[in-house]
Parts: sequence; C-alpha cells; structure tokens
Amino acid sequence: MVTTVKSKINQHSMTYSSDTTVSHQRKWRNGHYNKFLQKNIERYILMHNDVSRNTWYLKSFADCVKNKNCVEIGTGLGILSSIAIGLDPKSITAYEEYSEAYKIASQCLNKKINVINDTVENVYQYPFDPKPDIIFHDLIGDRIWNEDCNTFLPYGTDKWKKPTWYTLPGEFITEIHVSKEKSKFPEISTVVKGDGFDNIQSFDTGSYDLDVSVDIEWLQKIKKIVHPMFDFHDDNLRSYNSNFDNAVFNNSKPVGRFSLDVNKGKITKNGTEVINFSDITWSEDTAIELNFDVEKNSFIFFRFGIKYKSSIFYLDQGTWGVLEKVCKVKKDTNVKIDQKLSNGEIGIEIEGKRHII
Ligand SMILES: C[S@@+](CC[C@H](N)C(=O)[O-])C[C@H]1O[C@@H](n2cnc3c(N)ncnc32)[C@H](O)[C@@H]1O
Repeated sequence: MVTTVKSKINQHSMTYSSDTTVSHQRKWRNGHYNKFLQKNIERYILMHNDVSRNTWYLKSFADCVKNKNCVEIGTGLGILSSIAIGLDPKSITAYEEYSEAYKIASQCLNKKINVINDTVENVYQYPFDPKPDIIFHDLIGDRIWNEDCNTFLPYGTDKWKKPTWYTLPGEFITEIHVSKEKSKFPEISTVVKGDGFDNIQSFDTGSYDLDVSVDIEWLQKIKKIVHPMFDFHDDNLRSYNSNFDNAVFNNSKPVGRFSLDVNKGKITKNGTEVINFSDITWSEDTAIELNFDVEKNSFIFFRFGIKYKSSIFYLDQGTWGVLEKVCKVKKDTNVKIDQKLSNGEIGIEIEGKRHII
C-alpha cells in the first residue's frame, strides 16, 4: 500500500504501479486486504463516520431509490445500503468481494439487504438478478480511478449503449488547479530527509547520503516496481508530497477540468468538448488528456469530485483525502496532463517529457 495523504487518514489509499492490469490490481488488493484485516476494518469505520460524505449519499438516495431495484457494488460493512434501506427501495442487493467484510455485513445488516460475496468485474457483463434500476457505490480512490470505478467503463463491449440502470455517482470529475502563491504550500520549501520524491531530487546535490552507491540507470530500470518517483529528474519540473490544507481550493478556479459521465456515456473537457463512449477503443491505456499554458514557478495540483444531478461532492470536503501531490513548473511553458482510467495514473508532460505522478 502506498498512502498518498500524510495529514489525515485516507480511506482510499491504494495506488498501483503504472503497468499492472486491472485484474492484477484486484488479486493484489484481495491478498493485501486479508493481510491487514484490522486496518481494513478501521478504514470502513472511518467511512461510516464520514458525515459529509454520508449526508451527500443520503440526499442523493432520497431523490431516487424509492420503489427501485438497487444494487450496491462494494458494500464493505454496509453503510451505504443501510442508508438506502430506510428510503423504501423495492430491493437491495449488496456485493462485496472481500470475504471478511462480507461475513460481517451479512450477519449485521438489515435482512432485507441481500448481501453477496462476489466481485462485479464489469457491470455490462454481470448477470444481475433482479435487473437493477440504480447501482450505487463508493469505488472511488483519492484520484478517482485508482479504486475500482472502472467497473462502470465499457471494457470488452464493441459499441457502447446507454445502460438500463442509473449509476450513482455516475459522473466523475478531475480538476487541475494552478497557483503562483507559494504561501499555499509552506512545507515544500523544506527538504525532508528520508521521504519520497524530495530525497531523490537531492541525489543531484549530494545532500542525501544513502550509504550505498546510487546508480541512476539501475534506478530508472526498476522505477516501475518501486515508485514512479525516479521519473522526476527534470530541470523544468519538480514534484512534492505536500500536506496542503484543503483551504487551497477556496477561491481557486480550475485551469482545466474533465468529467466522465457513465450514465450518458460521454466525456466533457472544460465544459464543452464531448467524446462519446462509443467512439473510444477501451483498453488499459485509455486516458483523458488536456493541455494548458502555465507561467514560470507555478504550482499544479488536483481536485476530484463526484456528481449526482447538479450536486457535486468534492473528495476534499469529506475525510476521504485528496491527491496531495504538487508539481512546480519552473518555466513559462505548455503542460499536458493525462489521466488513465484503468488505474488513475496521472501523467504530466513538459516539452515532450512525461512524468508520472
Ligand atoms: C471504498 S470501500 C466502500 C465501502 C462502503 N461502501 C462505504 O461506502 O463505506 C470499497 C469496497 O468495495 C469493495 N470492492 C471493490 N471493488 C469491488 C468489486 N468490483 N466488486 C465487489 N466489491 C468490490 C472493496 O472490497 C471495499 O470493501
């Protein structure tokens, strides 16, 4: 597990190396889950206590679940199904792949909730019975696509057709923010020994003593299995693990925004450009790209949100955690950002050189 948030506990903390496939991720995750049972139970409890998130789900459910056949994918200990059951659905079937969580949920939840121990690999192919009207979930990672919501993407289908169910949340938003105010990221002026990117950066200056010889070429070769941080030898760009206060988003307007709606089957970039699901060849490498100009010494950071009708919940508004990585661009230039939908990997490209964050 790589925890990307330092300042608070992050319920969605799984990050995968860039070349693992979706099913490898699932196998890895299951093994990982069983190893850290107590940690996982703690994670579920944190989600149960995330009042802002749960209130957002309650309000959204109140608008749509009555008399509907509902499916939850990834029920954990069952908080979302328990919220929904009070709103008179016709039925609720709750899937959970992690057997320890399933055992607890199946014993403790309201008996009207049908709990099933299975992985829903792809909603387009799964034999749901009864057919759902609503599928709800929280399969959302701290960069949206690094948990499991790619389950809702039409991998393996030739021509995408509008689903007969409504996915909630079904609209996923990635925003790119740029700031020139260094005071928003006070800690990044300090290079902390023994921690992530900053030390690797300081190989150059010799200020970090590893007690072993540092062979950059060898590090480059193993970077994918260790950490993508070794990509960050670049005079134009520097990456930081930041502890930024969520207040950085106050009055901050995104310079770029993409949104993917699995109910409508479309991708919107900066509010206008639309790509239909049926025009995309879906693969592990499918990504959304966006480029924009930045001024010298700008900081780039990200914000993620989920949307139901007009109601947006930004992950930083809950106790979920956000991707607290900040990149500093050292020159006036054009920047290209891409985000892979199979695992949430974010790339940042400057002058033809792409780095993974
Ligand atoms: C972030 S937790 C959410 C738990 C709970 N729904 C909540 O909101 O508190 C995601 C859960 O989904 C389960 N999960 C992830 N992908 C799944 C899939 N494709 N099918 C079934 N369960 C899945 C995980 O084991 C985990 O328990």
